[in-house]
Amino acid sequence: MKALPLLIAGIVVPLLFSCQSATVSVNKKAASPDGKIIISVETRKGKVYYSVQKGDKVLIGKSRLGFRFQNIPELGDHVAITGSESRTFNETWEQPWGERRLIENKYDELTVHLKEKKDPKRELNLVFRVYNDGFGFRYEIPRQANIDSFRIMDELTEFVLPEIYDAWWIPAYKERFYESLYRHTPINQMDTVCTPLALETKEGHFLAIHEANLTDYAAMNLVRYDSTRLKCDLTPWSTGVRVIGKTPFVTPWRTVIVADSPGDLITSYLILNLNEPSKIPDVSWIKPGKYIGIWWGIHQGLYTWSQGPRHGATTANTKKYIDFAAASGFDGVLAEGWNRGWDVNWTVYGDSFSFTKPYPDFSLEEVTRYAEAKKVSFIGHNETGGAVTNYEHQLEAAFGLYQRLGIKIVKTGYVSNLLDGKERHSSQYGVRHYRKVVETAARYHIMVDVHESVMPTGLQRTYPNLMTQESVRGQEYDAWSTDGGNPPDHTTIIPFTRGLAGPMDFTPGTFNFKNHLLPQTRVRTTLAKQLALYVVIYSPLQMASDMPDNYRNKKAFDFIKMVPVNWEETRIPDAAIGDYVITARKDRASDDWFVGAVTDENRRELVLDLSFLMPDKSYRAQIFKDGDKADWESNPTDISYAETTVDASQKMSLILAPGGGQAIRFTPVK
Ligand code: NOJ
Repeated sequence: MKALPLLIAGIVVPLLFSCQSATVSVNKKAASPDGKIIISVETRKGKVYYSVQKGDKVLIGKSRLGFRFQNIPELGDHVAITGSESRTFNETWEQPWGERRLIENKYDELTVHLKEKKDPKRELNLVFRVYNDGFGFRYEIPRQANIDSFRIMDELTEFVLPEIYDAWWIPAYKERFYESLYRHTPINQMDTVCTPLALETKEGHFLAIHEANLTDYAAMNLVRYDSTRLKCDLTPWSTGVRVIGKTPFVTPWRTVIVADSPGDLITSYLILNLNEPSKIPDVSWIKPGKYIGIWWGIHQGLYTWSQGPRHGATTANTKKYIDFAAASGFDGVLAEGWNRGWDVNWTVYGDSFSFTKPYPDFSLEEVTRYAEAKKVSFIGHNETGGAVTNYEHQLEAAFGLYQRLGIKIVKTGYVSNLLDGKERHSSQYGVRHYRKVVETAARYHIMVDVHESVMPTGLQRTYPNLMTQESVRGQEYDAWSTDGGNPPDHTTIIPFTRGLAGPMDFTPGTFNFKNHLLPQTRVRTTLAKQLALYVVIYSPLQMASDMPDNYRNKKAFDFIKMVPVNWEETRIPDAAIGDYVITARKDRASDDWFVGAVTDENRRELVLDLSFLMPDKSYRAQIFKDGDKADWESNPTDISYAETTVDASQKMSLILAPGGGQAIRFTPVK
């Protein structure tokens, strides 16, 4: 039963409502379909605020809304509520690929109309959508006489927390491309942070603040004032302006997932729901898959991107990788360094890159013909070195060429401090560029995997060819990072932080733990944990990142060959952020379930309740687990394989080594 009628509008009015009155405080409310989450919007002394509670607990206290502009007065000051509308919405839509096929999109919506009480009497709308698992809101600046073009200097949106929550965060501006290790501190020790920001309340509830549908706007960061007051901090252009806009104008959705357990953060589809339906009418050409690449060898210094005796992307070498991919049932082969432009300091001089001209020892025609004959896709790599204008000038020609040659996937990259030497990756400039690439790619039926991108915001719903993105400290750090690589707890945190934003091209799959370049740096997991990551970390394009020779004749490789990349549904049977995660996913193409469990540096005995399996059915469980002596530090490759028969009434004990994991396939017994 609902605690409130669907929507209570116009209550708490000390005087009869009048939009012209300077003293009247008007309060509008909206509730989630189950009545538990309640949002209130009010004006006080002409300023507009929202607050949120769940049951009788305040989740977000009175928080300001509005904008500061360049040269024109602030909007959200001296305003009165002039009216509101509400509606309910309920649909179930189908994802072409993802962690879950059918998504329920059920919310109550409240639109609040505001108008300035004095000149220039501008109008502003606030739209709130309240779900059972959280809420989103955005601003609309309608077309009107007294505001046309504008420059936003500051978005005033606040998230005032009622007490000191715990937070998992990465700093904004200081480290590049969101490739940071997450910090876990009380919020009053937080820096200015990127979103998603995961929070835990004192009672053990979880919130995640992020945004949805970031379109022609700057990415949101959060700056902290006082100990608990967080405020939107939009990534600026080099001029200091945050966003250039024109009416009619809508902002991205500011989103807050509200969850009773860490796992409920992962199984919330609120961010996807707050994006537009697909703009690509026929998605039959968009296919998730697994790939290998001439890649880890380059990062380990065995091959080079540029020409020379150790050049990796030669025709002959790429053909060998294609043979291996075909024999392993993989869909793609990536080769980095196939094109001209790598011979200079490309992170500075990225405009030397050509996206159509291969190096002399690489024949794009021959490689793509060979790949097609083997039913494998060649993945075109487009490292731009951040030279966005150079890339945009070549986009149509490059994607046209790729389409003619049957190249279905492009991996892009933007390694540079600034785009075009000037603008930040997460600025409006960057956001515009990344969108342009995805839209252009869609026209040429090309799927994209974006590295060094702006943080994802669920746009894969609208552009399902936007397959996966990096924006995470991926496994490549375990090849060359002088701090030793990703610590064992990293992958027990990112599913609850970066992972909430969208698929991650983390590139798991290391089987050879030796690093001859930097012996102190290496993948800090066990081999079984590498397998488990294919289930725990979601990406519709999953890389088997090691070199083919390291996979040959290894039983563990069978798991990478069999694990799907597209799921009917996802559950999180048990998790504690930063300690361990168990993820269970049902294959979309069969009745098989797959489980991945990972732990931090501590050995753990976990209990896996199998009630997610179909009742009254027996399942064959193929178990890839840490061997008795496995330990990420001293014995990472100790792995054992077992088979058993189980059913939904049982519980399995999972023993994970320090830094270890377990990967299981459950197949119904006929
Ligand atoms: C960084 C990317 O994350 C990595 O995958 C790629 O190999 C290099 N840039 C070169 O483009």
